[in-house]
Order: sequence, then C-alpha cells, then structure tokens
Amino acid sequence: MNQPDVDTAILGMSDIRKTYRLSSSVLQRFMKGSGRRSELTALAGVDLELRRGETLALVGESGSGKSTLGKTLVGSIGASSGIISYNGAPMPAHRDKELSRRIQMVFQDPYSSLNPRISVGSMLKELLLLHQIVPRDQVRDESIRILNRVGMDEDALTAYPSQFSGGQRQRIAIARALAVRPDVLIADEPVSALDVSVQATILDLFESLQKELGLSILFIAHNLAVVQHLSQRVAVMYLGRIVEVAETAELFKNPRHPYTRALIASIPRMSAESVNQQFVVHGDPPSPIDIPPGCRFSPRCTFAQDQCRKVDPTLQNIAGTVVGLHSSACLRAGELPIFSTILQRDGAQ
Ligand SMILES: Nc1ncnc2c1ncn2[C@@H]1O[C@H](COP(=O)(O)OP(=O)(O)OP(=O)(O)O)[C@@H](O)[C@H]1O
Ligand code: SF4
Ligand SMILES: [Mg+2]
Repeated sequence: MNQPDVDTAILGMSDIRKTYRLSSSVLQRFMKGSGRRSELTALAGVDLELRRGETLALVGESGSGKSTLGKTLVGSIGASSGIISYNGAPMPAHRDKELSRRIQMVFQDPYSSLNPRISVGSMLKELLLLHQIVPRDQVRDESIRILNRVGMDEDALTAYPSQFSGGQRQRIAIARALAVRPDVLIADEPVSALDVSVQATILDLFESLQKELGLSILFIAHNLAVVQHLSQRVAVMYLGRIVEVAETAELFKNPRHPYTRALIASIPRMSAESVNQQFVVHGDPPSPIDIPPGCRFSPRCTFAQDQCRKVDPTLQNIAGTVVGLHSSACLRAGELPIFSTILQRDGAQ
C-alpha cells in the first residue's frame, strides 16, 4: 500500500487568482443596482499543495471556487495570476501534450461528460493511441485492463454511454481519465449526481485507486461527510480562499476556523446537541463581486470582533503544531472554544 509522501508536493498552488469580467446583464442580476463592480473574484489568492500519493479533499459551499480551482489545475482555464507548479517546477501557460496527460479531471455529471455518439471502446482506443500509451495491437487488452480496474467488464467496449446507469457511467469516466496514466486526478464532486446507494461504491473505487496506483487525488465535495473516510487531508474553501487545512482526523477533532466548525456541525449526526448551535452559520455567503473588507467570513461569524472587519487574515500555521500540519485563516484561531469534546460526545471520531 502506498503511503503519502508528505515531503513532496506533486502540485503546488501559490497565490492563485481568477477573476471574471462581467457583462452588464450579469452585474444587474448580482448587484441589484448598488455599488457596481465589473469583476467577479472566483479565486482570491489560493495557497495549497497536493502531496504525492495523497487524497486531499477540497470542501466548501456552492460558489466558493472549487471547480474554478480544479479547472485551473488541469489547465482548461487559465488563472489570472499566481503559480501552479508540478513536481516543484512552475507549469507553463500552455501545456504540452505530455504535461496535460499527467493531470486528469473527473466531472460531477457522468451524463454530460461522456460523448453519447462514441462507444466506450472507441473512446479508450483514441486516447491510448493519441498518447502512445500502448502499441495498436495491445489497445484492446489495455482497454479491458482499464475497464476491469474500475469494476467494468469487457462487454462495455462495444456499448454507448446511454446504455449504462449513472454509477457505471462515472466508472467509465474514471476509466477515461486513467487510460492516459495520469499522476494526478482532480475529481469534481464525482458522487454528487449519483444515488446514495451508488455513492459508497464510487468512493471505494477512489480509495483503492489512490492506494493501489499511488495516484494523487484532489477530491472536491460540498460537504465534509462525504470525504471524512476517504481523504488524508482536508482543505476548506470559502469565497475564493482556503481558510483551513489539516489532516482529516485533526480537522474533525480540533477545527480552528468557525466556518469549518459550521460545516462539521451541519453534518446531521454531529448537530443533534444544542451546544453545536453556536457553530451553525446562517444566510448565504457574500457575493464574490463584493467581498467584504477584513475577514471575508466576518458577516456570518459568531466570533467576529472589530479587528475582524479590518484585517484580512491569511492562512497561518496553528501555534504549537508542526509547520504544514494544520493552518487556519482566522485571527482568533487560538481563542476559539474547545470543539473536540462536543464531537466525541456526539460519537464522531
Ligand atoms: N465563466 C464564468 N464567468 C463568470 N463567473 C463565473 C464563471 N465560472 C464561475 N463563475 C463564478 O465563480 C464563482 C466560483 O464558481 P465555481 O463554479 O468555481 O464554484 P464551486 O465552488 O465549484 O460551486 P459549486 O459547488 O456550485 O459547484 C461563482 O460565483 C461562479 O458564479
Ligand atoms: S477572523 Fe474573526 S470573523 Fe474571521 S473567522 Fe476568525 S473570528 Fe470569525
Ligand atoms: Mg463546482
């Protein structure tokens, strides 16, 4: 079994920013006539690393910038500024075929992510030949090997996407990503569109791929419950920034950002006790066109003080922990009330 290599980042993200210029019709919809700006900030300076051989979960509310970050990592959209590095070297703005092959993406919707007019066998053949993964006479055997790896059998080669269930289609989408032998998988909410009964089997598949193939996986999800048992580390995203990063068990036991606490408290079995109510956040996140001054979470934070509306906190190592193990972007990270006892009483890990 491969263990994550904590010393090496396969993907590094340094101050990644992405802004979109908005048309006047979009501005009217978002801003309702007040204080108009012409840009939407989807990523507001993301610092993060994906370590070799780990599954890192990226969690946050809708609109926080998770997919935008995933797309900048695979290169399907360009960042406005910042540096993405692969194996320690900055990636060029235009990636060659070899570099593109190494980072693959699996999307949320297995229905729209596969071409309905191409059979599974043709799809895999095209990729295997384009990237010269195997010689032409070995394409069929290699295609069967990949399908078997994702729990599908040889019969799938002659079938079309419409002939499969949602879970099977997601397996085929994963097979397509694996066919080119990537080092990194960016999985953007790959189970959100599936039935609950199917979700667990796809999560198991990601877990076995990480362990057996040594893949490095960025697993994007809306809620923490989905990734609790899958990921070694969790990064929490809020309004275009990473606000907390820690190993998964540590994050659940000792969350050091009020937003992370709110996400944990919103997991049903952890919110039963009234004492958790202090961590629940209300209302929607502010508009990414008009990010509040100071801490971007301050309008919704129970612990906000005056300084929080003036100082924009950056991700800092939690005092007393080894550098790189646990970071939070909260000015009051060291003063927040103890959380672990509450979770232990609720039966969490
Ligand atoms: N092409 C675009 N033009 C303008 N704004 C965009 C564009 N793509 C994304 N956005 C905006 O950027 C912000 C981040 O979007 P993104 O899709 O990355 O969020 P997300 O965290 O993946 O959300 P979800 O959980 O709903 O998938 C949102 O406010 C979104 O409306
Ligand atoms: S900096 Fe202040 S407002 Fe922001 S999360 Fe921490 S306590 Fe809340
Ligand atoms: Mg998304």
